[in-house]
Amino acid sequence: MTSAKIAVIGGDGIGPEVTAEALKALTAVAGPDTFEFVDYDLGAERWQRTGEVLPDSVLGELKSVDAIVLGAVGAAPGSKAIPSGLLERGLLLKLRFAFDHAVNLRPSKLYPGVPTPLAPHIVEGRNVDFVVVREGTEGLYCGNGGSVRTGTPQELATEVSVNTAYGVERVIRDAYRRAQSRRGHLTLLHKHNVLVNAGSLWNRIFTEVGREFPDVETKYLHIDAAMIALVVDPAQFDVIVTDNLFGDIVTDLAAAVTGGIGLAASANINPTGEFPSMFEPVHGSAPDIAGKGIADPTAAISSMALLLDHLGKPELAKKIDDAVTADITARGADKFSTTEIGDRIAGRL
Ligand code: NAD
Ligand code: IPM
Ligand code: MN
Repeated sequence: MTSAKIAVIGGDGIGPEVTAEALKALTAVAGPDTFEFVDYDLGAERWQRTGEVLPDSVLGELKSVDAIVLGAVGAAPGSKAIPSGLLERGLLLKLRFAFDHAVNLRPSKLYPGVPTPLAPHIVEGRNVDFVVVREGTEGLYCGNGGSVRTGTPQELATEVSVNTAYGVERVIRDAYRRAQSRRGHLTLLHKHNVLVNAGSLWNRIFTEVGREFPDVETKYLHIDAAMIALVVDPAQFDVIVTDNLFGDIVTDLAAAVTGGIGLAASANINPTGEFPSMFEPVHGSAPDIAGKGIADPTAAISSMALLLDHLGKPELAKKIDDAVTADITARGADKFSTTEIGDRIAGRL
């Protein structure tokens, strides 16, 4: 196997802690010579030291790597140390936008024996196993808005959601393909009863592209009702497709009902392969538990399975998935440290 170059951005808080365990798993499954890891010191500390968030020179270097592994960035919500969103927008979202990460893939699966807040009758004998295809480069995340009369009682602030036919179609098409290769069911989540402009576009394209996939059964749910469905009947979902912000919200709930945010992996995929894709846990920097060695690295490790799949090594991806499944099933409700979990999973590889 030839060596692939992986850029590693541990970031802030628990980011570097979980990323170390992810790389441990990657090396355990692929051997020491498959990947060349290049560390990038980016995040809160770099900004505080130099005022830099993501220098253009770094962005240029990252463009040529085979994949990016990211831990998490950001300070505690409400912290005054870093302006809110500076790192999230200037680093994480900048990478997603610059590298055209249109498909933000977020699988959720409830493994046997894993503690869940869902009632036993909701999950017993049911297969809770779905994937959210979240649009990653448009919507309310474009920074399309502004504020006038800022700071006055007459302030007017706007955030305008950007939805292009091109962007919506490519993510919906991706979701149909995934549904076709899974259980043949696709649900669109939106709010077209209120967001009539963007909602009509999503609806129209969902229907049009659906004609090419007659074997895929479809459903539409308003996003609010979907929150109920995820708690009372999550087994109904196979593939979910939705916009950037709805996808952000729905995937935290999806994580919570399938064993917790510490298990939720994600891939930011550039569909054309022109730019590197990026692999990261769904969770953030968790400042409340940073430095304590108790963050669950499973999400970061599972993200490495998504990376391996993307780099054309599905057999290695499956090994990571199997090791994670075996470990979280064996864990039950017992608590382990970050490195213990990393060692247990690497030990199975
Ligand atoms: P968060 O995901 O960091 O934490 C939410 C809760 O989940 C906390 O109670 C935390 O302790 C817990 N948690 C998160 N990851 C965990 C893990 N691996 N194991 C065990 N518990 C875990 O969300 P937040 O508190 O809203 O955000 C904290 C910071 O992270 C903010 O600055 C936010 O902007 C940023 N953030 C970054 C990313 C990213 O870089 N991809 C994602 C989400 C949030
Ligand atoms: C996520 C995060 C990011 C998002 C933030 C930190 C910009 O919440 O990856 O889910 O909203 O996409
Ligand atoms: Mn989120």
